[in-house]
Amino acid sequence: MSKVKICETVLRDSHQSLIATRMTTEEMLPIIEKLDEVGYHSLECWGGATFDACLRFLNEDPWQRLRQIRERAKNTKLQMLFRGQNILGYRHYADDVVEYFVQKSIANGIDILRIFDALNDPRNLKTAIDATKKEGGHVQAALSYTTSPVHDNEYFAKFAKTLEDMGADSICIKDMAGLLKPYDAYELVKAIKSTVKLPVELHTHYTSGLASMTALKAVEAGADIIDTAISPFALGTSQPPTESIVATLAGTEYDTGLDLKKLDEICSYFTPLREKYIASGLLDPKVLKVNVNALLYQVPGGMLSNLISQLKQAGKSEKLQEVLEEVPRVREDAGYPPLVTPTSQIVGTQAVFNVIMGERYKMVTKEFKGLVRGEYGKTPVKIKPEFMKKIIGDEKPVTCRPADLIKPELSELREKVKAYAVQDEDVLSYALFDQVALKFFEYRQAQNLGIDLENGDRELNVHPVV
Ligand code: CO
Repeated sequence: MSKVKICETVLRDSHQSLIATRMTTEEMLPIIEKLDEVGYHSLECWGGATFDACLRFLNEDPWQRLRQIRERAKNTKLQMLFRGQNILGYRHYADDVVEYFVQKSIANGIDILRIFDALNDPRNLKTAIDATKKEGGHVQAALSYTTSPVHDNEYFAKFAKTLEDMGADSICIKDMAGLLKPYDAYELVKAIKSTVKLPVELHTHYTSGLASMTALKAVEAGADIIDTAISPFALGTSQPPTESIVATLAGTEYDTGLDLKKLDEICSYFTPLREKYIASGLLDPKVLKVNVNALLYQVPGGMLSNLISQLKQAGKSEKLQEVLEEVPRVREDAGYPPLVTPTSQIVGTQAVFNVIMGERYKMVTKEFKGLVRGEYGKTPVKIKPEFMKKIIGDEKPVTCRPADLIKPELSELREKVKAYAVQDEDVLSYALFDQVALKFFEYRQAQNLGIDLENGDRELNVHPVV
């Protein structure tokens, strides 16, 4: 039995999950060299919502952050989360944008791209996988984990095989909602390991209080890599604590080989940061408590906050329970999509409309219609023809790979961003977050000229679920 490896998430998912992705580059840089000495398999440090948050809230260039981390992490692999054809955004992009984004991510320092699709439609992963291979990066293809009548071990093992055939270098079980229970994890890892020859990594969240047990059972079943977060940024909606997993496995056949003393130094660095975020209110004790809604309704933590804020805006906070019960019904109607960005927002918002309008599907969002029509890809279960008809009327469903309908975008984007761009990568920031990126470019320009520009309101009203 080989040793278990650890992917540390403190620079990405753990602060995305606990403090709305607000950790700054300045807060990260002093500890990177120490993190690099620990002997982690990888540091997850980029992608997901970090890119958006850099531009939108922190007035930071995400590319610059990546380069600064790379400079200091000379030995450890750097890892990012990549939403397939959505890249780091909320819609499908043309292949030329996906390819260029992959190229630049690797050129700026990323080693491992964890690529996933909300619907587990392999066609939405193909361009990103091929581009990563072409650039010499490591393709970690992810299974978006969920439960439903079709999402059994056989389904996931078969999907893992497809990903192996497409060129994946490793497989990630991506349990973004913390739904995966320990004994189910054991069986799932066994099923995948007996079907593919690739290393398997487990990514889960502590939301429902199961993550350490789930990680342990996954290890016993042969999982090769586990995602953990250093303890001040662990637990709650984040990952299991690195130190506890390392201590548990020490001296066993699964020993990670990591030194608890070194980890304690990392812990000491992040402890005051945790205190700071508790004091500022950004780290809300609510996200630290065990929440079984994930197990009952498949509602991940980030999605729950969205539902609460949408209902509050509509003055219908008392309807939360009804909405929670409506979510699984909408999900069934929509062909059982896993709930992860962007499907979590689409299904959640539709469930809110169904409840507050007092009639199901009286009002249908553009995005929900798109999901039913096939604009996001193939749903895990075929949508019933009568429901399809009710939602899209006489419009034709999309059956091809959705990105085949998108013309190349890059040259037009380059033209639009010309006046602002100071580096090749700026066109990609603009491609993903146009207005937000422009505001950042203006801020950067003003700062270079020594002008203090007021940072306007750029609130993100959705919490990405990753
Ligand atoms: Co996650």
